[in-house]
Amino acid sequence: MSVHRSVKKITTHVLQEMKRNGEKIAMLTAYDFTMARILDQAGIDILLVGDSASNVMAGYETTLPITLDEMIYHAAGVVRAVDRCLVVVDMPFGSYQGNSKEALTSAIRIMKESGGHSIKMEGGREIVESIERILSAGIPVMGHLGLTPQSIYKFGTYTVRAKEEEEAKRLIEDAKLLEETGCFAIVLEKVPAKLAEQVAKEVQIPIIGIGAGNGVDGQVLVTHDMLGMNQEFSPRFLRRYLNLAEDMNMAVKSYITDVRNKDFPNESEQY
Ligand code: KIV
Repeated sequence: MSVHRSVKKITTHVLQEMKRNGEKIAMLTAYDFTMARILDQAGIDILLVGDSASNVMAGYETTLPITLDEMIYHAAGVVRAVDRCLVVVDMPFGSYQGNSKEALTSAIRIMKESGGHSIKMEGGREIVESIERILSAGIPVMGHLGLTPQSIYKFGTYTVRAKEEEEAKRLIEDAKLLEETGCFAIVLEKVPAKLAEQVAKEVQIPIIGIGAGNGVDGQVLVTHDMLGMNQEFSPRFLRRYLNLAEDMNMAVKSYITDVRNKDFPNESEQY
């Protein structure tokens, strides 16, 4: 039997076993109880309480404004909803870049106040000291390399990263360093598929791609994008499985019509 079918709960060890067994890992974002329940019951392996909540839930242009308190609020709702999947919570911008003591304090707050199972941090060699300190407190850490949206003002654009040899070399070194330091998995965002495949081959921990091709160990998408709730964002890597914005628009229009026509509620819908 496949690894993920044989377990009641997905842990960091199960994910690593899935990689060893050649089983792909499916990860999506969630920011609230209702969505998380649906995704967990559908059998998702990992739910990421992403700082993309800053864009998706709060309407900010970047991921930078969301606060640690807000991330904890979103994560606590997700954790209350799930029975099986692993919940990873993003450390928001400003909660770990200062120094490793601050990083540990932020990670402990996430674990204690939300009940999340692990945290995710963006960056390579520059955050290794913080990762070590967090790991030494017993908190599992997922890395994030490639396009790291918290550094958008440094990059200047959301285009594909590591197309040049020097940046690709640095990325491979960083992935190996994160593995050595003890990260249980790494998200690799928007890098050439060939490079992502090479990274997945050269490290033993799972590499979860977004816009990183099919040669990695798993995939992650923003749930609201893959359900078609967000019509304005159409990168090449996004596959839309529903057109929910359109379906919801039609449903709401029908409701408005029914209310205006005094068709809702009918006899059986009242007391
Ligand atoms: O915040 C987020 O949703 C993410 C994914 C895009 C990986 O970090």
